[in-house]
Amino acid sequence: MKKRLLFPGVATAAACAVALMIAACGSGDGVNAPTDPDTVADQRAAALVAQMTTDEKVQLVHGTGFPVFSLGGPFPPGVDGAGYIPGVPRLGIPGLAMADSAGGVNIANFGATALPAPVALAASWDPQLANAYGARIATELRALGYGEGLGGGVNLAREPRDGRTFEYMGEDPVLAGTMSAARTTGTQSQKVIATIKHYAMNDQETNRFTSNSVVDERTMRETELLAFEIGVTQAQPGNVMCSFNQVNGIFACENPYLLTTVLKNEWGFKGVVQSDWAANHSTVAAALAGLDEEEPGDLGSAAGGLPGITFTSYFSSALKAAVTAGSVPMARLNDMVQRKLRTMIRYGVFDSPPTSGGTIDQAAGNAFALQVAQQSAVLLKNAAPTGAQQPVLPLSGASLSSIVVIGGHADTGVLSGAGSGGTPAINGNAVSGCQQPASLIFGGCATWYKSSPLAAIKAQAANASVTYFDGTDANAAASAAAQADVAIVFATQSEGEGFDLPSLSLPNNVVDPYNQSYDQNALITAVAAKAKRVVVVLENGSPVLMPWLGNVNAVLESWYPGVQGGQAIADLLFGNVNPSGKLPITFPQQDADLPQPAISATNLTVNYSEGLMMGYRWYDAKQIQPLFPFGFGLSYTTFAYSGISASTDGAGDVTVTFSVQNTGTRAGAETAQVYATLPAGLGEPPKRLVGWQKVTLQPGQSHQVSVSVPAKLLSTWDVMKHAWKLNGGAYQLIAGASSRDTNALTTSVTLAGH
Ligand code: BGC
Repeated sequence: MKKRLLFPGVATAAACAVALMIAACGSGDGVNAPTDPDTVADQRAAALVAQMTTDEKVQLVHGTGFPVFSLGGPFPPGVDGAGYIPGVPRLGIPGLAMADSAGGVNIANFGATALPAPVALAASWDPQLANAYGARIATELRALGYGEGLGGGVNLAREPRDGRTFEYMGEDPVLAGTMSAARTTGTQSQKVIATIKHYAMNDQETNRFTSNSVVDERTMRETELLAFEIGVTQAQPGNVMCSFNQVNGIFACENPYLLTTVLKNEWGFKGVVQSDWAANHSTVAAALAGLDEEEPGDLGSAAGGLPGITFTSYFSSALKAAVTAGSVPMARLNDMVQRKLRTMIRYGVFDSPPTSGGTIDQAAGNAFALQVAQQSAVLLKNAAPTGAQQPVLPLSGASLSSIVVIGGHADTGVLSGAGSGGTPAINGNAVSGCQQPASLIFGGCATWYKSSPLAAIKAQAANASVTYFDGTDANAAASAAAQADVAIVFATQSEGEGFDLPSLSLPNNVVDPYNQSYDQNALITAVAAKAKRVVVVLENGSPVLMPWLGNVNAVLESWYPGVQGGQAIADLLFGNVNPSGKLPITFPQQDADLPQPAISATNLTVNYSEGLMMGYRWYDAKQIQPLFPFGFGLSYTTFAYSGISASTDGAGDVTVTFSVQNTGTRAGAETAQVYATLPAGLGEPPKRLVGWQKVTLQPGQSHQVSVSVPAKLLSTWDVMKHAWKLNGGAYQLIAGASSRDTNALTTSVTLAGH
């Protein structure tokens, strides 16, 4: 009975495999062969499993090392990514190479496009763009010989000092889940298997191999697991990567609740649960809990590891022994292999395996990178200088006669996030003294792409004298700023896998080539004190504290803007492109406002004591004024909302309708957001995001926005029934330009519970 619950469908698949050798399974007569791609993939995979030896099966459920570090192998020519699983030629099963690809393919020297970081993508709030982002990366993965992309991080920014915040999609489960699903669909449309990761509650890097995330069931289900649920159920990624950490005392990769109860049984996941690299710690426990693939797997004589990590394989000879001894049933091994093969078949890498040596269309990659950067930057402040009427931005290239550009290596390039979520620079690192490592997998040197904001600014302001100060001498920069029409200060915050930020503050006197060798806050303050007009441009992956905010006229958040970042920043500053990004993450005023005041270096228990009050929900519940709220972002035009109404069907699904008008003088795009306040007494935060629509409007144009809110997004998690519950009562629906829009419209519906 227990076995049946753990591996539903195994018996049917095996029976079907036998049938397939005789005729088309499911039709009985071989004439009406099934055409549904899921059924076909299941049946073809089952037929293969039925023919495989135990050794062949075991070979398919673990990698053979870490190609990029030349650990393990041998690997086929050209394979240089994070992992490789050899095929079974006798049965026509191809090998499968996989590469990291958070914001571009993390393979050096082959010209992969470095797109803006995933957090930037989330700031676009545009699922179509996310689809194209996933597709772009998949095209490049295939061209380089990779059939599986390891991008797709969706951990929520519960702890925004997390060094991987740039690799994820912000703090809201519906935004992150929806964007992740769109990205996955884009990737898998190009015959590449997509990954969603790191499952789950892997929300900081400090002690990531050993920490224990202690979190109650309702919190899990309503926050981070909801992001995964949306991503998995809407887009069926072929791969779910389980994380390094423990969840409630059990390692994520051997956690039956996460892997089998929730992911496979409840969400119906038919793909592969793959361990993060060295996140598996057992054979029987992991196999029975639902782990299907171990990475990097069996390194053979190269076993050992990298500094700080030991690679031990539990899914090679140890798994064979466990199957032989019966402690892991053969049915479970068959299920693992079935999942691997059906995924390869379903998403096209079985019949059309990618081959290395292709070329990347860099012009197309660059054009797309520029588009993403333009659509994801967030204009946080745009005020008029003293004595003027007009906000400082957009700058007028024709009328400016002098511009001072300061700091942030803006003369040479733009910053990227580090670690496995980074993308190498194709033509070398823009910042000298900082050598690009062979691989970006475990941090190391920060990458600066050669996309100079200074050069792009010069090109936009042909009549102006444009001078650059590197920021090391704040007085010199401030004196020059005093003489110029406008000063543009660039500030950067480097982050990456394997370490957390000590603070959200801009680095202060950090003498290293990764950031700046001066106090960036002091520089901005000094320049702001003297400049006639001052604009700050940020390049970062996490929120930034801005003690100088009141003294500057404008702030543009460009995130890690990718290989065309310099051009995109200039286009936005000069108004060739109207900013339309909105924050996917709250910017607090100070570190002390975060739910977890500091990240402990020694306490291995990460207690999610804030419960449901995560992200903006925390600031709302605690009535803490953020620096900039979730969902916030300005435009060079203005928008007005009017005429809200809401209706509901019998199932509790709600449709919210209202108008948005462009009331300014420029075309622009607005992300109109809908939040819900649940009935009182449920212990819920004041509001949650339930939907949005991004609309592009010409001056004066109106659009009737209609946002469909499925009942599930209005539900709470019932810990007694372990199920979603729609509670009866009055629901407020709030439509506005951010989570704290004081002009937001409100209406309400009464729903019957079920
Ligand atoms: C990271 C994963 C990555 C893997 C392979 C791990 O350290 O956590 O996100 O996919 O390395 O590079």
